[in-house]
Amino acid sequence: RAILHGELRGEDVIVVSNREPYIHQRRGDHIDVQRPASGLVTALEPIMRACSGTWIAHGSGSADREVVDKHDRIAVPPETPAYKIRRVWLTPEEEAGYYYGFSNEGLWPLCHIAHVRPIFRSGDWAQYVAVNRKFAKAVVSESKTKDPIVLVQDYHFALLPKMIREELPEATVITFWHIPWPNPESFAICPWGEEVIAGMLGSSILGFHTQFHCNNFVDTVDRLLEARVDRESFNVSYGGKLTAVRRYPISIAWPPEHEMVQKEVPTCRADIRQKEGLPAEHKCGIGVDRLDYTKGIVERFHAIERLLELNPEWVGRFTFIQIAAPTRSGIDEYQHHEAQVRAMATRINGRFERRGPPPIVLKVEHHEPSEVYEYFRAADFCFVSSLHDGMNLVAKEFVAARDDERGVLILSQFTGAARELPEALIVNPYDADQCAAALHMALTMPDTEQRDRMRLMRGLVAEFNVFRWAGRMLLDAAAMRRRNRLVGSGG
Ligand code: G6P
Repeated sequence: RAILHGELRGEDVIVVSNREPYIHQRRGDHIDVQRPASGLVTALEPIMRACSGTWIAHGSGSADREVVDKHDRIAVPPETPAYKIRRVWLTPEEEAGYYYGFSNEGLWPLCHIAHVRPIFRSGDWAQYVAVNRKFAKAVVSESKTKDPIVLVQDYHFALLPKMIREELPEATVITFWHIPWPNPESFAICPWGEEVIAGMLGSSILGFHTQFHCNNFVDTVDRLLEARVDRESFNVSYGGKLTAVRRYPISIAWPPEHEMVQKEVPTCRADIRQKEGLPAEHKCGIGVDRLDYTKGIVERFHAIERLLELNPEWVGRFTFIQIAAPTRSGIDEYQHHEAQVRAMATRINGRFERRGPPPIVLKVEHHEPSEVYEYFRAADFCFVSSLHDGMNLVAKEFVAARDDERGVLILSQFTGAARELPEALIVNPYDADQCAAALHMALTMPDTEQRDRMRLMRGLVAEFNVFRWAGRMLLDAAAMRRRNRLVGSGG
């Protein structure tokens, strides 16, 4: 945190993301403030709290425009205002093309190997270009200097780095791609692939979670553009501009906020079991995800069903609680996925319920982070079964929540987190029998082994926390700025 404060002192810092870190909604005559479910927001919010700047975000459909407009730029967090949110409002057509269309029906399935076919439409692309331009204008109008540090977040804004550079050639643009990057063959499906990567190469620094994604990106550049790629330094030179492609594995704030872990673990265990109508000694697993097909919730439920087939002694003695935050529900594939998840939970419960409490409790609704932590602390294990995931911060949050050094993490090998947390039970979510064996192992793991594994994982998350993630990026950017000032050219 100190490094962050030091590096950012006097600097003009702007974050751009699609999701807003707070949603303001009118309820009667008071304004209700919610924090959305998003790994990206979880990661960046502590950074912005540390460095009062401006966060530019899409004023999402759920935010109350009237309320926000009145306050123009809202200072947050509500308790102790530390930075400002500036909303960019989109028309329904812009939102449909840029957010639902090109970003989430095109780039999202393109970059995640979850075997969902990407859809590319020229109308969506036109809106994506227009909305990126709209955000570029907002960046220019919010920057107080000619050389701000702009932190561009994610696949919604691939074109923004180049657009910012055209307007503010001295800006330092740090782009972080929060999702995986596919191999060049897969990426070549995108009809506007060249424009997408040329846009990203407007960045001074381009970050991914893993080296594997950096490799895929430079391979893609090599294949699609006339660029010079230095395989040793991972610097890409394109159109007279240098971009450093780097690995920055994202993390969470450490230590977790006091109020998140204030309630003792035994109290959380008792309260959650009572709330869910489960016996006091009942075994519980937890899953927390956006209701997204990349998260492998269907595969997770298969594994639970397989556990109960192979180890019937758990029937009636174990329940898996799945918290699923609704997301992108305007997209057909997501509606279909939600129906599939609901039907599966009903079918599996119908099969085993006669012998006691249901094996699956499915809660399709938004939960505040403090409630999620209570579930984490109440559970015997957490199951993360993503089919593909840039990092997956739920895995790290579960570890952070367990200051009692108990609880088992079952983690998909296809998450970035699996590379950092080998003490988890690493599984292939497509292999139901292997996952069922891991579930049984989690339910029977001795306390001492839970402690040994959890201690190692907590050590890693404590050290490689989100401040280090941002700190490393900003230190690299600061070194770059110093060099450029010396030679007298821009970021
Ligand atoms: C992922 C993406 C984020 C996104 C979040 C929530 O973490 O990388 O950019 O904000 O999902 O998705 P949503 O579309 O609901 O904002």
